[in-house]
Amino acid sequence: MALILDGKALSKKIREEIRKEVESFTSKGFRPPSLAVILVGNDPASEIYVNNKRKACEKVGIKSIFYKLPEDVPEEKLLGLIYELNLNEEVDGILVQLPLPKHIDQTKVILSISPGKDVDGFHPENMGKLIAQIDDGFIPCTPLGIDILLRHYGIEVEGKDITIVGAGFIVGRPLSLLMLWRNATVSVCHIYTKDIKKFTKEADILISATGVPHIIKEDMVKEGAVIIDVGISRLKDKIVGDVDFERVKERVSAITPVPGGVGPMTVTALLLNTLKAYKRKFSHLTSTTNP
Ligand code: GUN
Repeated sequence: MALILDGKALSKKIREEIRKEVESFTSKGFRPPSLAVILVGNDPASEIYVNNKRKACEKVGIKSIFYKLPEDVPEEKLLGLIYELNLNEEVDGILVQLPLPKHIDQTKVILSISPGKDVDGFHPENMGKLIAQIDDGFIPCTPLGIDILLRHYGIEVEGKDITIVGAGFIVGRPLSLLMLWRNATVSVCHIYTKDIKKFTKEADILISATGVPHIIKEDMVKEGAVIIDVGISRLKDKIVGDVDFERVKERVSAITPVPGGVGPMTVTALLLNTLKAYKRKFSHLTSTTNP
């Protein structure tokens, strides 16, 4: 029987630590950390994700400042808002929920966010730090959440064969760099991969981030492997992942559930990144060793 990697329980524990750390600042009279969250349009999934992020912020004492812009907002208006938030000393982190409507150039938007406030870690300066293995950048939230989950359960990454299915900009690509940083041997599969099963069957750790429900079947995994499921899809009114959980769990040593696995860890990583952005400004003022 596989070990269930409980992202919900771990998130609860980490978020309580974050709450205490935030309180240690605010109790000394510092303003709370703050995250500006921008949602453009009415995509129902994005609305749910943004709501979850905002609620999680409030629960740990991070102030979330919400901007909801109409679907047809001109690109210059969004860029203008980000420009103001970059300058605002009271704002520690800026998050623009993706995807954006087609008339807005996503790259332009990501480039416009100040790297020091880019708690999503999508700016090339932060992606570059991930490649260069420089610790003071922001690592994108889903890869960071997965890394924390693996460490918590003592799942060794170094020297392991890791297959990532999905090479997207938000998860697959940065995750491959992070796992390489942790000294794994990484294979990345995408829609042009000739034979995905060849790679999934060999993996000690298989991470799927495609958004295609149940694309990973039991005959695609190695016996005893660790399975990380990043997918969140709706199938016949049920939330399911990329992995055919009920069948796959019989063959593997550990697996994340959907919901309750990677999803909560992504939000927890966002809180950690926001706290990191905040502490850069305030830590030297509270440090006892460096008065
Ligand atoms: N859309 C899906 N995942 C994410 C994420 O991690 N950050 C942002 N900004 N948008 C997303």
